[in-house]
Amino acid sequence: MTVSIAQRTGAPAARLMSVGSYRPARVVTNAEICTRIDSSDEWIRERSGILERRYAAPQESVADMGVQAGRLALERSGIDPAQVSMVLVATVTHPLQTPSAAAEISFRLGAVNAAATDISSACAGFCYGLGLADSMIRAGNAQYVLVVGVEKLSDWVNEYDRSSAFIFADGAGAVVVGPSQEVGIGPTIWGADGSQADAITMTQTLIEYRNDGGPVFPHLIMQGQQVFRWAVGEMPKVAFRALEAAGLRPEDLDAFIPHQANMRITDALVRAMKLPESLPVARDIATTGNTSAASIPLAIDRMLAEGEIRSGDIALVIGFGAGLAFASQVIRIP
Ligand SMILES: CC(C)(COP(=O)(O)OP(=O)(O)OC[C@H]1O[C@@H](n2cnc3c(N)ncnc32)[C@H](O)[C@@H]1OP(=O)(O)O)[C@@H](O)C(=O)NCCC(=O)NCCS
Repeated sequence: MTVSIAQRTGAPAARLMSVGSYRPARVVTNAEICTRIDSSDEWIRERSGILERRYAAPQESVADMGVQAGRLALERSGIDPAQVSMVLVATVTHPLQTPSAAAEISFRLGAVNAAATDISSACAGFCYGLGLADSMIRAGNAQYVLVVGVEKLSDWVNEYDRSSAFIFADGAGAVVVGPSQEVGIGPTIWGADGSQADAITMTQTLIEYRNDGGPVFPHLIMQGQQVFRWAVGEMPKVAFRALEAAGLRPEDLDAFIPHQANMRITDALVRAMKLPESLPVARDIATTGNTSAASIPLAIDRMLAEGEIRSGDIALVIGFGAGLAFASQVIRIP
């Protein structure tokens, strides 16, 4: 006798319901960075657009920051933590191989009925999370999803490496995604080009470090020019595909919120996409640095707080980085 397997169906669409963020207290100026690398405030401002960034306290963990941002997003959504069916944490800086940061964060938030897992897609991680949340809600595998982007890059950057020490920083952002009648998250355009895995990688594995030792703990290294060329050459095409898949044109946008990699990359994307000059563009990197998976929700929260965007606005988001991985979609601002 043949049996058939029952399947769920979900909501017609998904939307962002709220955003929350967390910026650690310690402000690290370019002057402080320059006490450790041969550089200058002027060079860092000009090449990256970064004036200062935030570092977490030594004992402040990825999970601690994720809990702060996640709690705020949950409070603002009005959703009881027990109603959350999935916690997705985009991070590459949680220091344990296992258990996941998501398991700890969901427990600490009281999301007792949630499945929980981490996403390792570096600076594309938050947009990967949005794509997954949207798919799960529409498939009926989740109702409310907490997507957290959180990084403590200060733990994994060599503070004496002049090619990367000035860029990376710490922080967290989170959104609650829930079911909706209207589309609040457009189709996700995503991918990963492993042929460029060496563009942003680690100096060695923790196992190699344990076995062979070495003068310096494993840390991030970046081929700056390779990343720059890829981002500026390829990401406008990805962003356009996301716009097209959502059935929109640049003039339909209320904001462009790219991953805060580097101000020059943001400027180049705006130019390449010929976006209207009046369009609000996220420039949170100036005082936040590059916080990888956290940068987009941090930027959304700041733009909302400063009145640059409003609830209901249409924004194009795009995350890109180590992998080299990317993901982009059009969203409605919560
Ligand atoms: C990192 C980045 C700012 C470096 O700029 P760059 O112009 O490519 O730098 P280069 O390595 O080619 O070096 C150019 C010059 O600057 C100098 N330089 C490099 N790092 C420096 C620093 N931190 N301070 C001062 N000078 C520096 C070099 O010595 C070189 O000097 P020279 O011309 O006298 O030889 C740039 O490559 C970049 O923005 N890349 C993208 C990085 C990024 O966004 N990463 C995040 C991805 S998620």
